[in-house]
Amino acid sequence: MICYFYSFIRAQRYTFQPEILSLWLKNDVLPLTLSHIMDKQEVILCEDPAKSLEQAIARCPHDKLFILTDEHTHRLCLPLLADIPALQEAEEIIIAPEDLHKNLDTLSAVWQALSSRGATRHSLLINLGGGMVTDLGGFAAATFKRGIAYINLPTTLLAMVDAAVGGKTGINFNGLKNEIGAFYPAKSVLLETAFLRTLDRRNFFSGYAEMLKHGLISDTAHWAALLNFDTMQPDYALLKLLVGRSVQVKENIVQQDPHEHGIRKALNLGHTIGHAFESLALAEDRPVLHGYAVAWGLVCELYLSCLKTGFPKDKMQQTVRFIKENYGTFFFDCKHYDHLYELMTHDKKNTAGIINFTLLREVGDIALNQTADKDTIFEALDFYRECM
Ligand code: GLY
Repeated sequence: MICYFYSFIRAQRYTFQPEILSLWLKNDVLPLTLSHIMDKQEVILCEDPAKSLEQAIARCPHDKLFILTDEHTHRLCLPLLADIPALQEAEEIIIAPEDLHKNLDTLSAVWQALSSRGATRHSLLINLGGGMVTDLGGFAAATFKRGIAYINLPTTLLAMVDAAVGGKTGINFNGLKNEIGAFYPAKSVLLETAFLRTLDRRNFFSGYAEMLKHGLISDTAHWAALLNFDTMQPDYALLKLLVGRSVQVKENIVQQDPHEHGIRKALNLGHTIGHAFESLALAEDRPVLHGYAVAWGLVCELYLSCLKTGFPKDKMQQTVRFIKENYGTFFFDCKHYDHLYELMTHDKKNTAGIINFTLLREVGDIALNQTADKDTIFEALDFYRECM
């Protein structure tokens, strides 16, 4: 295939105008303390995490308090909350870390701990961790005694801007990601961006891919701000604003369509092919972080957007260049194409076996329920291999 799109890469460059941030603030689009009631979920961009947590716990009357951590967040993050009086009596449940353990065995261990330590329908669970903890803890809360209240306190960028917000909970099953789960929003989600100061670079970029997606589905200013952000020497005050904006984009969509019948599918941009990369990597015992798979999926799905819905080539190229520079590449060759295609047929958005894509006409102009035949999907995979 001739990769003619890529030759435009140095064409028009969209730059971020700092004044746009103050415009968001002036228009109250991005209040510094973002407190937004989404369905039953309140999302707070914390100024003082201890106080926010204390208040969130007080807003959820309960008979017994549980706090779920993985081995890492138990060691590194829980001590930061040690002085909170409301947590003194909390029962700790500690699980093994990472997506590998987001399974039925770990879920069963959490149910077991809740049950044997006297949790009732009126108990409250706090999930302190990355997306694995908030997904699995949220699903444990959704199912224990048909549902108990929970609070998410995400500690990774991926969990802050995606997993912990929006009410999707679940576990992996049968080799498929998030195969079993429920829509069950937390009572509160507390975003404490100070946790990001100690996040390793790979986990930083994993979360940043979801922010990039939020930029692409929302507006040019946000997208340009993300592409121009100095990821080598992050300005954490600016990052906090971008996280707030990103969560706001997600919340606005989830509010309109909490159960993903329509517009929530926009949040799946990059994920149809991204999940296939992620599953292939897992099957071949070379797992990749979710956000990396999403970033690589965005490369293919922006190519499809150019081809099928007229997305501007220069914006695709600018985004592809950012991904290439920061995410490296995922190796596969044409022998993997059929396997990748088969994995795409499991996507939750599909109906009647037809692969469903979310594509873009422009930054912020979303084209839902797009299809592409096998040859076109393979062409997108060719494009990826040629330019990455
Ligand atoms: N992660 C996509 C969604 O929450 O819908």
